[in-house]
This record gives sequence, structure tokens and C-alpha cells, in this order.
Amino acid sequence: MEKLEFPEGFLWGAATSAHQIEGDNHNDWSEWEKSPERIAQLKKEGKDPADFISGKACDSYHRYREDFDIAKELGHNVHRFSIEWSRIEPEEGKFDEREMEHYKTLITDLRERGIEPMVTLWHFTNPVWFAKKGGFLSERSPQYFTRYVKYVVDNLCDRVGLWITFNEPSSVYGGFSYLLGQWPPQKKSFFKYLRVQNNFIRAHTLAYRQIKKIYAAIPPVRPGSSSTSHNIRAQVGWAENYRYPVVPWYLRWLGSIFTYFRFLRFLKKTAPYQDFIGLNYYTIARLPGSYDVLPRQAAVSIMGWEIYPYGIFHVLKSVAKFKKPVYITENGIADASDERRLKFIKDHLRWIHGSIAHGVDVRGYIYWSLLDNFEWSHGFGPRFGLAEIDFKTFKRTVRPSALEYAHICRNNMLEY
Ligand code: BGC
Repeated sequence: MEKLEFPEGFLWGAATSAHQIEGDNHNDWSEWEKSPERIAQLKKEGKDPADFISGKACDSYHRYREDFDIAKELGHNVHRFSIEWSRIEPEEGKFDEREMEHYKTLITDLRERGIEPMVTLWHFTNPVWFAKKGGFLSERSPQYFTRYVKYVVDNLCDRVGLWITFNEPSSVYGGFSYLLGQWPPQKKSFFKYLRVQNNFIRAHTLAYRQIKKIYAAIPPVRPGSSSTSHNIRAQVGWAENYRYPVVPWYLRWLGSIFTYFRFLRFLKKTAPYQDFIGLNYYTIARLPGSYDVLPRQAAVSIMGWEIYPYGIFHVLKSVAKFKKPVYITENGIADASDERRLKFIKDHLRWIHGSIAHGVDVRGYIYWSLLDNFEWSHGFGPRFGLAEIDFKTFKRTVRPSALEYAHICRNNMLEY
């Protein structure tokens, strides 16, 4: 058995997102979940629509302290979560101070447990007014988004250092909403996909500059001073879903096109405006001819995703050329029986450790997810959580694999 130590100060934790856990959100997704077309489609597929409506989700809006206690008990020192734009700005230009207070308190509660917040500003959902204006198809979307970011960061700059502007804007959101037309607003068009991508790039850049401006205006605390000011500096990035493209050598160009549109274009265009790269990794991408070079993996999750831990090494090496610190902002498995989760985590960590040994500057590992939650168009079926949720009673039960992962977090070391 080898002892694989991680660099000093490495961050260990888990992630969630607002719409998937909070409950009672009112945004373009909650509207879509209840739309007659969506209900009819689910019924046609023989599914119970109730399982696909986020509703109270994990009721984390009220039970977040219980969730943070779990994270603390599990030895986590970072927690990634998102702020729900539709709560903060339910009507255009009108900010809800009470909701802002809620997130302020939440972050204070997290810090009191010795856990560093990593805050995502957008995780797939939009306020209804913004969606009505065309969402990220709208020319003015970067300005709308940045106005919201300014309000939030003005309020939280004294307690947050790690910011993620967008979660998976290009690969997952762009893909499902605009390339495949399966997620709201279900607008299937390659041109729209490109337009949305360009607006996300502009929005990220504007928001990055805005955040930096806010922090630059805060005077640093002088040693010995009794000032209540603080020394937190902002680190800003965005998180994308990376897949290792499997393709034979004679179709390498296809792999390059895939990689370019999935993340490379975005990465290149925003490179000067990223303090770190947020890397989400779950599985590989099978391109034509892939079975000639890689047989179907025996281990497949209930999402239908082949489990291929070496892929994370490959994608980490491929982003290393940007010479930025990298956080693994998501990696996880839907596994209700908890039989495969620990092996999944350890196998991926082994390759992450390998990439660090090869010089990639990985600063943290954030498992997806802390809790079972609302898995978007898959509803409540897939169970990604370190803690199991009973969606009737909202009882949280920590899974055995989470306790093993806790040893790794506490020791900053993987025994493999
Ligand atoms: C998303 C999460 C989602 C997870 C599992 C990621 O692409 O950021 O919101 O739950 O994958 O599907």
C-alpha cells in the first residue's frame, strides 16, 4: 500500500448548487418543470412527473446548518455552493436584501465551522424576468449578470475569497439547452449555442473585472491595526465539465473539434481573466471509432457514464499548458447502494496525485455532491450524495464511503 500525500494547504470538500438543494426556488427551471409540455412528455415516457419537480428539494434553505455540520464532521475544509440569482434579484433591478442577509449568515455559519466558502454565482438557473428577455441569448445578458454580481460581491467581499462565475456554461448548459434542446429554454440551434457561448465569455470577463475592482478598493489591513477590515483577496474562475475524448489517431481532428467547442475556445478567450481553472470530471466522451482504441468499460454508473479514472489525468495534463492553478470543482458518482463510491473517489484521487507529480498545480478536490439532490432532468433518482437524503422527512444519513473519504481529507493523504 502506497501513501500518497497531497500538497500542504490542499482543499478537500464537497459541492452543491442552489436549485438542486434549497427548495422553493422560483426561476426558469422551476417554471419549466411544471410546464404542461414537460409534464406531458414525462407521462408519455411512463414517468411520474412528481419525481421531476424540484419542489422542496433537500430543504437546505432551512437546513443548511445541518448540512454544514456534516461537512465539518467529515473533515472538509472547503465547501462549494451556489447563490440563486432569482432569489437575489427576483425582479429586474430590484435586489432582495433579506435574501442577501440569508447568504451572509450562511457563509458566516460555514466559516465558523472552519470551512472555506467557494461561491458559484450561476449554476444553470435564471430569474424568470431574465429568461423572458432571452436569457444568455440577449445582447445585454453580460450587463444584467454583472449588475447582479456587483450587488452580491459588494455584500460578500468581506467573507468570500474563492469565486466561480459560471458552472459548465459551454459543455453542459450550452449543450443541453441549445445544442440538444432538452433543457430550458429548449432552443436547438448551433448558431444560438455559439451566441450564448460568446455572451457567457463576455459576461465572465465583465464579472471578473467587476469583482477585482471591488476587492482592489478595500484597503489592506496593516499589521497590528485594530481595523475591522480584512485581508481576503479574490480568486476568480469558472468551472467547466471536461471529458477525455476517446478517438483513434486517424480521427484526431474530430477530437480537436470536440475539445475546442466543449472547453478550449472558452478557456483560450477568458485566459487573462481566470485566476484558476475549475475542472469538473465525470467520464469520457466516445467519438466515432472509439471502440477500436478503448473497449467499453465494465464499470458504468446509473447515469450510463463509463468510469474511467485515467481520463482525469489526461484532462489535467491538457489544461496544464494554461499555467493556472486547478481546482477539481466536481467529481462524483450516482450510487444509491454506496458500493462503488469509495473506489471511484480513490481511483480518481490516485490519478490526480499522479498529475501533481507531473507538475500540474492542483489545489483542491471537491466531491459532487455533499447531498443527494435534484438531478436536473433526471429528477430525484440519481444519488450522488456523501449523505443520503430521505426526500419525505429530509433526514440526512452519512454514507459509509463519506467516512472513508473523511480520513483522506483529514490526513491530506490517500492510502492506495
Ligand atoms: C453539474 C451538476 C450535476 C452533476 C451530475 C454536473 O455537470 O454541475 O449540477 O448534478 O454534473 O450530473
